Amino acid sequence: MSTDAASATPLIQLRGITKTYGQGATLLQALKGVDLDIEAGDFVAIMGPSGSGKSTAMNVLGGLDTPTTGHYLFQGVHVETLTRDQRARLRRRYLGFVFQGFNLLARTSAQENVELPLLYRGESASNRHAAAAKALEQVGLKGWEHHTPAELSGGQQQRVAIARAIVTEPAVLLADEPTGNLDTQRSQEIMALLWRLNVDHGITVLMVTHEPDMAQYARRIVRFVDGVVASDTRNENPIGLQAPAASTPSAAPSTQSGPAVNPPTEEAH
Ligand SMILES: Nc1ncnc2c1ncn2[C@@H]1O[C@H](COP(=O)(O)OP(=O)(O)OP(=O)(O)O)[C@@H](O)[C@H]1O
Ligand SMILES: [Mg+2]
Repeated sequence: MSTDAASATPLIQLRGITKTYGQGATLLQALKGVDLDIEAGDFVAIMGPSGSGKSTAMNVLGGLDTPTTGHYLFQGVHVETLTRDQRARLRRRYLGFVFQGFNLLARTSAQENVELPLLYRGESASNRHAAAAKALEQVGLKGWEHHTPAELSGGQQQRVAIARAIVTEPAVLLADEPTGNLDTQRSQEIMALLWRLNVDHGITVLMVTHEPDMAQYARRIVRFVDGVVASDTRNENPIGLQAPAASTPSAAPSTQSGPAVNPPTEEAH
């Protein structure tokens, strides 16, 4: 996964991806041949009806599941040929997830939940602590660090999950309905936050949403219908360009020089 390969090819290339579940009478083809290129730094909203294959595609993109047929290249590397361990390493190093059903640890504080990905990366306790506190502040949860998920609302839990996904400053953030549990105000704050991560930190954002208002934050809107990409359009005027990013009320100003958050390229191999 050299940087040379990254500059020569799109960050992500899907070619003829299919995904079949079950067998015989219960056979279901969730993806029927998906072709998609995603450039580094893009902000893509994935839309489409329920059952159209959005989450299945996100699972493939996130290296959580392998396609039945087709090719998935990440920085030119064929992900579909990687072992389970290699895919796990790809995820830890490059990807952050906010997924449907990606649960927080129940008896563990928000702070510790957010620190977990940094623990897997071998960060020191002080780095973990500072980065997790900053990520929680970014999602508007300052003061809630020591609450467990049971002591938080659904929307707050969702924000903990987002903090956990961004705490490593991943190259790609994969978010499956990240505002699904949130009211309009909080949704807009989360979207403004994703926008800032995209613009200020260059994080490529792939987000599933059912809400057209939220999709308007994206630079590109890909619509799935019945397991294929039915349309793919650029949004020339994403909401984040219409108003200064500083207009997010509860999000703390980012201290970009902060020492705790490492760029994804920092690891040597
Ligand atoms: N693990 C699985 N086993 C069997 N079928 C599955 C599995 N996961 C998804 N499917 C089926 O694949 C199809 C696509 O599902 P997927 O979850 O990708 O849809 P989606 O577009 O994310 O829908 P939603 O908007 O409701 O989240 C559906 O018909 C679903 O029932
Ligand atoms: Mg889904």
